[in-house]
Amino acid sequence: MTSVSIIGTGKMGSAIAEIAARAGADIQIIRRRAGAGSSLERSDAVYGMVGDDLTGELVVLAVPYEAYPSVLEQYRDRLAGKTVIDIANPIDFTTYDELQVPADSSTAVELSQALPAGVAVVKAFNVNLGDTLSTGTNGTTTTTVLFAGDDAEAKIAVAALIEASGLRAIDAGQLSRARELEAMGFLQIVLAATGKTRYESGFTLLQ
Ligand SMILES: NC(=O)c1ccc[n+]([C@@H]2O[C@H](COP(=O)([O-])OP(=O)(O)OC[C@H]3O[C@@H](n4cnc5c(N)ncnc54)[C@H](OP(=O)(O)O)[C@@H]3O)[C@@H](O)[C@H]2O)c1
Repeated sequence: MTSVSIIGTGKMGSAIAEIAARAGADIQIIRRRAGAGSSLERSDAVYGMVGDDLTGELVVLAVPYEAYPSVLEQYRDRLAGKTVIDIANPIDFTTYDELQVPADSSTAVELSQALPAGVAVVKAFNVNLGDTLSTGTNGTTTTTVLFAGDDAEAKIAVAALIEASGLRAIDAGQLSRARELEAMGFLQIVLAATGKTRYESGFTLLQ
């Protein structure tokens, strides 16, 4: 199996570490201070501090979009050959009314443009609330993970990780589709925050 570096130890970092563990991946967890954040420290992961070299072939940015500049400052030039997984939903939480990226773009495209050529970016997991990743279900069906990207090999690796963990992986297309995935993630969080759905549920695709 693959190896995964996860930057961030919050809700999503913990959920994706659980997925990686179920998939049998080597796991590195990068945090910015001692203590494992909102989760108990895992015995199956190697911990490092921000600034340490990343050992994973897949690198998950499990931090708020606002933290991307500081993460890029550390790692922009140390990501050659890796696949960066962007999971961000850049919601303006002061209004819950808009995203913090231009309407014709996405965090994934902005990230891709900020990285050196040749670093693959895949949008994934942003249309999944953390609980549905940890449990593997939205309460009714197996959790479906939508992803998008331009690099075919990178997408195969991300899909393999998702499927090896027991979840469904659906390729939504090119990285330009990240804009729609971010709109879906935005809507899902608004629905959960306003009590129209539960944080343990989520969108699915019936086939
Ligand atoms: N929560 C969800 O269900 C959900 C669903 C889909 C997508 N997302 C996306 O997932 C990402 C993470 O969300 P979350 O809910 O996991 O947030 P969270 O629980 O607040 O965790 C954020 C993590 O990022 C770390 N962090 C913040 N700034 C950092 C920096 N400059 N350098 C290094 N680490 C930094 C925090 O470290 P400290 O512990 O030191 O503060 C914390 O470990 C966001 O982009 C969000 O939009 C979330």
